[in-house]
This record gives sequence, structure tokens and C-alpha cells, in this order.
Amino acid sequence: MSNDTLTTVSILVLHGPNLNLLGRREPDVYGSVTLDQINQLLVDEGQQLGVTVVALQSNHEGVLVDAIHDALLKHQGILINPAAFTHTSVALRDALAAVAIPVVEVHLSNVYQREAFRHHSFIAPIAIGQISGFGEESYRLGLHALVNKIRK
Ligand code: DQA
Repeated sequence: MSNDTLTTVSILVLHGPNLNLLGRREPDVYGSVTLDQINQLLVDEGQQLGVTVVALQSNHEGVLVDAIHDALLKHQGILINPAAFTHTSVALRDALAAVAIPVVEVHLSNVYQREAFRHHSFIAPIAIGQISGFGEESYRLGLHALVNKIRK
């Protein structure tokens, strides 16, 4: 293994339920960008920043919990859009707290301009921070914020 491989920061990007439908899902709320396009944007941005980006989407809470556990010793940061699980999942929050890998939470829409049930996040209290309301730009900003924090 080269020194380069040993020191390269790796970021796990997790997308929660229904985000596989981006592009056709409520475009007035989420825009027309697809999940593949967001992932490509993050890989490209990661290259600029000198970090590796690995992305996973799942509609299943347990799959996301397993991915968080598997991130131990593999990834130095987690960028997550927990989607609907933001507002419901103690399991995701506990998994993120358990692995203690730095986390940034992102949302495409501004959840605070929407229904009251979207105003509470189980994830935000254990995240470095949350970025909400900038469409796919939320992910790009989140990646920068996460990498800056890891490198400090
Ligand atoms: C979302 C906001 C959530 O409230 C919603 O359940 C989603 C997407 C966003 O990116 O704006 O699925 O996380």
C-alpha cells in the first residue's frame, strides 16, 4: 500500500428513502437533478478536494445502519441526507453516534419552510452541522464543510 493510499480521506455519502426517485419525484420541491448526477458531482468535487467519495442509497433503515457500522476504519467522514428517516430514526442517530465518525446532514429542500413534522431532526444533534435548502448545492457545500473539518 502506498503512502498516498494510507493518507487519502474517504467520505461515505448516504442517501435515504425515495431519493432514488430524484428527477421525477416532486420536481417543484426537489428539482430535476437525478441521484446519479448528484453522485457524479460529489465524485468530481471529491477529486478537486483530493478525497475519495463512495455513495450508497437505500430505502431500508437497516441497510443504512449496516453501512454506517461498515464505515468504521474505512471512511473518515459521513455526508448524509437521511430523507424521511431524518424525522423518525433513532436507529440511524444511534448508529452514527456509535461509530463517532464526523457527520454532516444535508437536505435538498429547506425543511424549515415545509410541514412542521420536517422541522425536527434526530440526526442534527449528533452532526457537525446541517445544510438545508440549496438543492444539489447542499451536498457540495456539505462535502466541503465535512472535509475542512476533518482536515483541521
Ligand atoms: C429531504 C427532506 C425530507 O423531509 C424528505 O422526507 C426527503 C428529502 C430533502 O432532501 O429535502 O425525502 O431530506
